Amino acid sequence: MRLPLFPEQASNFAPDVDHLLYYLLAVSAFFTVAIFTAIFYFAVRYRRRSERELPRYVHTGLTLEIVWTVIPFGLTMVMFTWGASIFFSESRPPANAMQIYVVGKQWMWKLQHMEGQREINELHIPVGRPVRLTMTSEDVIHSFFVPAFRVKEDVVPGRYSTIWFTATKPGRYHLFCAEYCGTNHSHMIGWIDAMEPQDFEDWLSGGASAGSMADNGAKLFQQLACSNCHKADGSGRCPVLVGLYGRTVPLVGGQTVKADEAYIRESILRPDAKIVAGYQPIMPTFQGLVTEEGVAQLVEYIKSLAPKPGAPAGPGTLPAPAQSNR
Ligand code: CUA
Repeated sequence: MRLPLFPEQASNFAPDVDHLLYYLLAVSAFFTVAIFTAIFYFAVRYRRRSERELPRYVHTGLTLEIVWTVIPFGLTMVMFTWGASIFFSESRPPANAMQIYVVGKQWMWKLQHMEGQREINELHIPVGRPVRLTMTSEDVIHSFFVPAFRVKEDVVPGRYSTIWFTATKPGRYHLFCAEYCGTNHSHMIGWIDAMEPQDFEDWLSGGASAGSMADNGAKLFQQLACSNCHKADGSGRCPVLVGLYGRTVPLVGGQTVKADEAYIRESILRPDAKIVAGYQPIMPTFQGLVTEEGVAQLVEYIKSLAPKPGAPAGPGTLPAPAQSNR
C-alpha cells in the first residue's frame, strides 16, 4: 500500500508551499531534539546529590540572553517573510487568468465557465494556464481546498473571495470542502480534472452549452428589467453600465470604489450600500430574485459591456473620473 506523506505537487504554488513547510519542519525538529537533549543532560548533570545540598547562585549571562533572543527572532522572521510572500502571490491573480465562478452550497460545488459550461463537483481546467476562481456561498461558510494545488480559501455567503493557481501536471485531483458546514460536509467533495490544453479545448467545445455567461447575463438583464433604468445611451435614470468594469466610481460622500466583481455583485444585491455620485438611491434590491449563479452571469454581462473603441462616450458614460457609472 502506498502511504504518501505529501499530496502530489500539481500547481505552481505546490513547490513553494512545500519548501516553506520543510523549513518549518526542520526548525521544529532541530529545537525539539535540542530542547529534549538539554532537559535530559541537565537533569542528570545538575541532579540533587544530597538532602542538604544548596545550589550555587548564578547570574544569567547577557550574551546568552541576547543569543537566544536574536536567533529565534531571525528564524521566525524568515517564516514570516517567506509565508507572507507566498500569501501575496496566492492573493494576486495575473490579469490574463481564466475566470471561473464557484458557488458552494450545502452540499455541493457548482462551477461555471465563461463559455457557459456548468459543472457540479467537478472542474475541468487546462494545465499551464492561470485559473482564477471567484467564489461565493448560497448558505453557510465552505472552504475550497485542493491539496495537490496547495490552495485553500473560505467561500463565504454575501461576498466574493478569489483564489488562483496554474495546474502544472495533467491529472485528476481531489477537491474538498475544508470547513465544517453541516451533516453532509464530508460528502462535499469533488474532482479537478487538469487536462492538456488541446484536450481541454475539445472538452469545452464538446459540452452542451446554453450560451456564454455574458449571453445568459444579458437575458437576465432583460428579464429582471434592469434595462429599463440602465439604458446604454444614458437616457435612463440610472448609471450607464458600458465600460464600467475596472473603472473608479465616485460615490455620494466623496469616496470612490473600483468597479470590480465584488462591487458589481454588491450593487445588484444591496444597491443602497454604495450610491454613485449624482444619482438617487432608487434601485430596489435583487436579493432573492436572482441566484448567485445568475448574479455571476449579470456580472459577466456587465464586464462584457466594453465601450466600442473610438466611439464617443454617450451622455452619462463619463470618460474621466469626474462623474460616473455604476
Ligand atoms: Cu461545505 Cu464543508
